[in-house]
Formats: sequence, structure tokens, C-alpha cells
Amino acid sequence: MDENNNISIKYFGNENTKIILGDAIIAMKEIEDKSVDLIFVDPPYNIGKNFNGKRDKWDKDEDYLKWCYEWIDLCVKILKTTGSIYVMTSTQFMPYFDIYLRNKLTILSRLVWYYDSSGVQAKRYYGSMYEPILYCIKDKNHYTFNANNILVEAKTGAKRKLIDYRKNPPQVYNSEKVPGNVWEFPRVRYRMDEYEEHPTQKPIVLLERIIKASSNKNDLILDPFSGSFTTSFVAKQLGRRSIGIELQEDYVKIGLRRLDIQKEYNGQNLKKEPRCFEKNINEQQGKLVLFNQ
Ligand SMILES: C[S@@+](CC[C@H](N)C(=O)[O-])C[C@H]1O[C@@H](n2cnc3c(N)ncnc32)[C@H](O)[C@@H]1O
Repeated sequence: MDENNNISIKYFGNENTKIILGDAIIAMKEIEDKSVDLIFVDPPYNIGKNFNGKRDKWDKDEDYLKWCYEWIDLCVKILKTTGSIYVMTSTQFMPYFDIYLRNKLTILSRLVWYYDSSGVQAKRYYGSMYEPILYCIKDKNHYTFNANNILVEAKTGAKRKLIDYRKNPPQVYNSEKVPGNVWEFPRVRYRMDEYEEHPTQKPIVLLERIIKASSNKNDLILDPFSGSFTTSFVAKQLGRRSIGIELQEDYVKIGLRRLDIQKEYNGQNLKKEPRCFEKNINEQQGKLVLFNQ
């Protein structure tokens, strides 16, 4: 809010890479209808995560869903007829999203992002090892899917070198294939280079697959809940235009640095803070230098 109690929106960046600091619903209302090629939505999951002091938990499940349906409707409105949308939420709310979305769009795949989470071990139930993603399009006959840009190894052909004798003449199985609907990618860990200070940062590899498959160079990609701005970061690397919206100023600062838009924010240097093991290395190197002198 500004001093007049208006909910304020701030814009950063340029025509190719835009960051919006503000509420997703308010900001999306400013985006032209049918203008976005690809939307990746990774909203708060209503599971009590702490987003920079704001708790991701609604009083009632119905309130959460009502809020989600509002931004889903806006996404559908601003998505191009040829566009695609990938939507995430927690496993417990995904069935509601599925039912709501299947009446508005065509759901082409129900994806599972699977990861090893052996760090968190449930003792009295089966621990959570995946997050669901819905992949939807507007027009079954006209949508972007660059299958050749996301091929993965097909073990039958590549490793086992099996021959398909049902074919005449018999043929070696393909060594590459379009990935199936279970995607195994590690979560972003503290020691990984891409790590940012955000509790639910999505991995670069996950966004790479989505963006390569469902967009082309110069296409416009929207992420209404950008967090650490992984989507915009990958979009830029791959030559796509992007709009990233985020409510928390501290996360916008990560985006400004990650996307090389600003080096300073209100006089604050946006340099990445060294992680504890990097500090130790620096300290150790410092000591080593002293020792050798
Ligand atoms: C699940 S996280 C997104 C993480 C992101 N995909 C990444 O890779 O870092 C959801 C984000 O939505 C932001 N958020 C919550 N409510 C919002 C709102 N009304 N408008 C815009 N952003 C909001 C939170 O601050 C949080 O950073």
C-alpha cells in the first residue's frame, strides 16, 4: 500500500524482461487479453510456508480456492489462443484445480515432478516425494510443442540396444524419446550454484524443459508468482520475453539481480550474499594468506 492506501504496483526492467512488484491479480488485470504465449504458475500452496513473513495459509480451504479461481480466470483471459499454461499447487488442492481447469482448457498432461526428499523422512505416513503440475492448452489443433528440443534417452534403444522384430524389416528401437509424465529433477539445495534465499525455489532444469517445449524465441512468458524468478531467468537465457510478478520486495530484489536489471535497490547493493561454506572458504583462504606471509 502507498500512503494513500492504494495497492501499489512497481515496474522494473524493459520490454523484453519485465518485473512487477505487486499483487498478481491486480497486475494481471493490466495485461492485454490473449497476449501471452506461455504461463507458468507456481502459487502459494496453502500449506503454511513462510514467504518473507507472510504465511501461506488461508482461514478456510474455500477461501484459498476462491482466490485461485480468480487468478486462473485471468490467466485464461490473457493466454493466447495458441498458448499453454502449466499450473502447480499442493497435492491436496490439485484435484480442485483439475476439475476447474478442465472446463476451461484442454488438459494434455498431468505431470509429476518427482524428487528424492530423503532429508525429510516421515515416520508415521508415506513422505511426500512429488509435486503435481497440470499442463493445459487452449486449442488442441494449434499449440506449440517442440518435441525435438526436449528429447531424453530412451533406455530400450540407447542402453539395451533392443530390436523391434514386429517391424518389417526389424528395426532398432529409438534411442531418444519425448519425456513421459514423471519428471525426476533434484530440488534446489543450499549448496547448488543456482540456490537463492527463497523457501520454494524451482530448479532451472524444470523450467528449461517447460519453456523449450512450449514456447519459441521471442515468445512472451508470464509467471504471476515469481518467487526467486527462475522462470524469467530461464526465459532470458533461452531468448524469450518475460513478465514476472511478485508481492515481496525482498524476492523482487533477487529477480533484479538474477536478471541483471539493477545492481542496486534504494541504495542497497544487490550482490549475492556468500553462503556459509563460501564464507568459510574465504576465511580459510584469508588465514592461509596470512599464514604464508
Ligand atoms: C511457490 S512460490 C514461487 C516460487 C518460484 N516458482 C521460484 O522458482 O522461486 C510463490 C510466490 O508467490 C508470492 N506471492 C504470494 N502471494 C502473492 C500475490 N498475491 N501476488 C504475487 N505474488 C504472490 C510469494 O511471495 C512467493 O514468492
